Amino acid sequence: MKGIILSGGKGTRLYPLTAVTSKQLLPIYNRPMIFYPLNILIKAGIKEILIIVAPERAGDYLNLLGSGKEWGVKFTYEIQDSPKGLSEAFIIGETFLQGDDVVMILGDNIFEEDLTEHISSFKKGARIFAKEVKDPERFGVVEFDKDMKVISIEEKPKNPKSNFAIPGVYIYDSRIVQFAKESKPSERGELEIVDLHKRYLDNGELDVRVINGEWIDAGTFDSLVKANLLAQEKLHKNLII
Ligand code: DAU
Repeated sequence: MKGIILSGGKGTRLYPLTAVTSKQLLPIYNRPMIFYPLNILIKAGIKEILIIVAPERAGDYLNLLGSGKEWGVKFTYEIQDSPKGLSEAFIIGETFLQGDDVVMILGDNIFEEDLTEHISSFKKGARIFAKEVKDPERFGVVEFDKDMKVISIEEKPKNPKSNFAIPGVYIYDSRIVQFAKESKPSERGELEIVDLHKRYLDNGELDVRVINGEWIDAGTFDSLVKANLLAQEKLHKNLII
């Protein structure tokens, strides 16, 4: 199993904080934001990690993270020229992945829970997560029936069919590269990650696990504050990097 951290994009929603650096390098309590998702992967025993960054910020990432040797892992870097969608990560990452399974985590997603068991027990298909939230319309949304079987998946629906958002951590088998290549841009011009979840759902190979620990997409000013408080109160004690 290899890891990808997707850490590109322009961070326009957090301007002017992002005028001089990348959103995913902003401070969350005592660490740059990306340390939190990196911590999840390294803790789970992932040794090879691809970090995908925007061209204008690549130098900042190299300076901060270097080779990975310090933490006993190997970092590889790739540039995403423009933010064409989350699924593009698997196309950019094809050479790096070399047919291996992958866990991808977004550089601005902060998790309280240790995801090690979920990652290390993965065998085949796709495994994604669900977390009950008050504002599901901001996210990918998964709908379950009464037996917790998945009925539907939608990206930022105006009228969400459930309160279960899909956090930004995804585990896929090696077919993901081909599925990403076959996917088409949405109306907003992006290769949507939910289309990849749906491919596995249609094949009966999508496993969705509900998480109870806190999860924050730190992409807005308010969620940035929340992430800082969570890190100050709880997360910083469990960081291994
Ligand atoms: O946070 C979880 C949500 O992430 C999921 O529930 C959604 O299904 C998924 O589409 C995504 O929604 P966002 O609205 O958060 O996506 P956003 O465009 O903000 O991108 C998420 C992160 O990925 C952000 O830190 C920037 C980075 N990114 C985004 C795009 C589109 C890239 O590095 N490259 C890209 O092409």
